[in-house]
Amino acid sequence: MTVSSAPNTAPKGSAPDPRNQILQFATGYMPAICLHTAAKLKIADLLAAGPRPVAELAWGAGGVNENALYRVLRALACIGVFTETAPGIFANTAASELLRAGTPGSLHEIVLWLADPFHLRVFAEFMHSVKTGATAVKKATGFEAFDYLQQDAAEHAVFNAAMTNLSAWLIGPVLEEYDFGGLGTLADVGGGHGFLLAAILQKHPGLRGIVCDLPDVVAGAKPRIDSLGLASRCEIAGGDFFQGVPPADSYVLKSVIHDWDDARSVAILKNCARAMRGSGGKVLLIEFVIDPGNEPSLAKWIDMEMLAMAGGRERTERDFAELFSQAGLRLARVVRTKSPYCVIEAVKA
Ligand SMILES: C[S@@+](CC[C@H](N)C(=O)[O-])C[C@H]1O[C@@H](n2cnc3c(N)ncnc32)[C@H](O)[C@@H]1O
Repeated sequence: MTVSSAPNTAPKGSAPDPRNQILQFATGYMPAICLHTAAKLKIADLLAAGPRPVAELAWGAGGVNENALYRVLRALACIGVFTETAPGIFANTAASELLRAGTPGSLHEIVLWLADPFHLRVFAEFMHSVKTGATAVKKATGFEAFDYLQQDAAEHAVFNAAMTNLSAWLIGPVLEEYDFGGLGTLADVGGGHGFLLAAILQKHPGLRGIVCDLPDVVAGAKPRIDSLGLASRCEIAGGDFFQGVPPADSYVLKSVIHDWDDARSVAILKNCARAMRGSGGKVLLIEFVIDPGNEPSLAKWIDMEMLAMAGGRERTERDFAELFSQAGLRLARVVRTKSPYCVIEAVKA
């Protein structure tokens, strides 16, 4: 997660200069904003066929200022995103390739979401979150995140695309490590546009599914489910998961529980436990798990997003066990994957 925006003058193998470290981190929002800018202007897509001069990129990006774009790309190249192959000529690197839209493994949509002007507005109020524990989004917009998104169709589309983008990233590693077969009817609660459930159903032809989310969100799942020929095995259910969830044999919730504080998380989990048919089903959370220690951790940074934006939190294994026990469930196991996401499996207590 660290970005290097200042030169590292420490000799190889020695501890980094702490002044240099602090300056790297203090300027850390600048790389984030430059990444967002490059993704928005589709610079990596313009470089898909090979290196190009910045003048062509500025023109291809809709006529942006050539000198300003040069300086953005030069800065990004110093952290390995794009490379200046000759004066004023840029090419993609493995990292900038990930900014391309719609390519396998792309992070285009998540970059568009994480450093967009809406985020900057919210994080400008971060101190409010730290002083009060409340969300910065409420201070910035007057609304909690999901209520705000209901009213801002353009931002909601950016958010939904980012969630699908993240699902696309983790689905391979999750399907590799966890066997969803034999779960009967699996409801994906807060399932967004159904990307995760569709992939699970495709891998396991014996499974049936229900994508559940707020009515206007889950409407976006229908085209995917239909186009993949899954309509006969997959229902789409609009509703509020605090009011209830549809009856099913098992439940999966990806990046849902981390959005909520403990009381609301327990309410969602209780609704799953209550609606679960039979006693042998599972409630599966696909989430980060915060490990002890000071190792670099994407989860600990996404926890800042939870603090400022969603009002939830990233959790340790023990935190999850506690949530489940309050919801009449029991933590059975945590399955690690090759992505930063884990499958956290619970059964009826
Ligand atoms: C962080 S997103 C995760 C979406 C999806 N599971 C994924 O990972 O791509 C959280 C989801 O919860 C949904 N959600 C929020 N509040 C809800 C509610 N009260 N009832 C049902 N769904 C809700 C949102 O619309 C959103 O799709």
